[in-house]
Amino acid sequence: MFWVAPLAHVRFKGGMSENDTYRSLEQAASRIRQTHLAQLFADNPNRAHQLDFAVGGVRVNFSRQKWDADIVGLLVELAQQRGIANFLQRMQDGEMVNRSENRAAQHMALRAGPGETRKSQGILISDEITQTKARMEQLADDIHAGNLCGAGGQRISHIVHIGIGGSDLGPKLVANVLRQTKALEVEVRFVANIDAAEINTALHELNPASTLVFVVSKSFTTAETLANASIARQWLVQHLGEVAAQQQMYAISAYPDRAEAFGVASANVFGFADWVGGRFSVWSAVGLALVVSLGSAAWNQLLMGAAAMDRHVLTTPLANNMPVLSALVSFWNLNFLHMPARAIVPYASKLALLPLWMQQLVMESNGKSVQSDGTPAQFVGAPIIFGDAGTNAQHAFFQALHQGPNPVPVDFIGVIEDGEDNPSQHQTLLANMLAQASALMNGKSAPPDAPHQHFPGDRPSTTILLDELSPFVLGGLLAFYEHETVVLAHLCGLNPFDQWGVELGKELALQIEQQMTEGNPKVDATNQLLLQAISKKSEPA
Ligand code: F6P
Repeated sequence: MFWVAPLAHVRFKGGMSENDTYRSLEQAASRIRQTHLAQLFADNPNRAHQLDFAVGGVRVNFSRQKWDADIVGLLVELAQQRGIANFLQRMQDGEMVNRSENRAAQHMALRAGPGETRKSQGILISDEITQTKARMEQLADDIHAGNLCGAGGQRISHIVHIGIGGSDLGPKLVANVLRQTKALEVEVRFVANIDAAEINTALHELNPASTLVFVVSKSFTTAETLANASIARQWLVQHLGEVAAQQQMYAISAYPDRAEAFGVASANVFGFADWVGGRFSVWSAVGLALVVSLGSAAWNQLLMGAAAMDRHVLTTPLANNMPVLSALVSFWNLNFLHMPARAIVPYASKLALLPLWMQQLVMESNGKSVQSDGTPAQFVGAPIIFGDAGTNAQHAFFQALHQGPNPVPVDFIGVIEDGEDNPSQHQTLLANMLAQASALMNGKSAPPDAPHQHFPGDRPSTTILLDELSPFVLGGLLAFYEHETVVLAHLCGLNPFDQWGVELGKELALQIEQQMTEGNPKVDATNQLLLQAISKKSEPA
């Protein structure tokens, strides 16, 4: 479907062009569609081993995907032709890989080890990274030592972290996973939505004198974040007065001047540079609340786990490279087997927010129809991502995964050592995960008089096993998915680092809100009707 029209970017390597590879992949897709997944295992008893990889406590098994050695070989060939290794190296070297915004994408630099030198578009950035990190750790130490207190000398007990999208999802996910592995001295409450219910709930019964407010926004223009930050500031001022309120507000932004103009003291502003994309920013000062609540040791382990995955993606041959293989399988499922969705199902309640984090990472990065060079996209780069923790998900959407007409590839994520003291429940949990993957793959035939009991099987999945939910392993898992997303974008010719598609809705919301205030909305007929209903409801009785 996608290769038929001659491609503008055809390059010839080793006698085979990208178009040749696409054609071979189309033929392979027609062939593999006729072969049940269970048959692929019968044909190759070593399959489970051959498609099993591990690094840094993250083990990924691709054997239940609907591909075989020939297809993997062709996809790896394609990755070579598309220059994946070179692209990743250019990204690490700080070259301008985000073309629409003229920026580097240096999230890997944030987790580089001490002494490793990194640049962004030729300018040294390592010192800036080290200094910011030292400031973050100093703040955490000061809070824990009681050197930094709230009004009246009260010890800090809470942080209200205000941010949305990439300024929320990563820190919230990490906090959710790790807060149970460590007794926290400082509790973090996250506020994202413009719905006032969130900020009101977060501030409910909090002691203002022992609370710090962190306003996290790369742009420091995001309407939701600024509105919630204003409410939080009012709350502090009302209870503590202007001076104390200013001391207890912090900002994390790539635009410190905007944070200061909002009223945050310059000493309380933590910067990060525009070469960190929002979706990739948990490793930057955006993670400040994590450093305070989890401590510097856990924070550094998180970074080190991600760095181990960075080394893997940069140095491992493509055929054994876990994020590259994961991107290739997603590319294959989307564009050759035409499966437009993907379910993310962690069998660990602590990872319940992973599907939401993945939604933004994959869909905001790769949900695009225009290539980096401005020409129309020829490939789909973003599946529709959804998910929930297993086993809850089994009682919600798994019916459709097993018997629905549209096969959905699943990522099953299990944890070997869960750190809980209930081995029998943990065994049941993992047995469920293995059972679901097996049922989706093998299916089950039904008696002729009970066709509704038929399970077709032949439904692909990847199984990821984590040694434990430690900061190190979690860092590796998140970096694995980051790299997968970037590689998938590059395979599809997309720029994963911009997000122009979110702008139109923001503009219209501003216009409509202004028109609602003025009482003269110029909106489409449906909105006209809905606005009438809204204004009637809000009229005083
Ligand atoms: O949804 C658009 C977006 O720009 C995301 O990319 C970003 O993570 C989020 O809004 C928040 O942006 P900021 O950190 O600038 O407030």
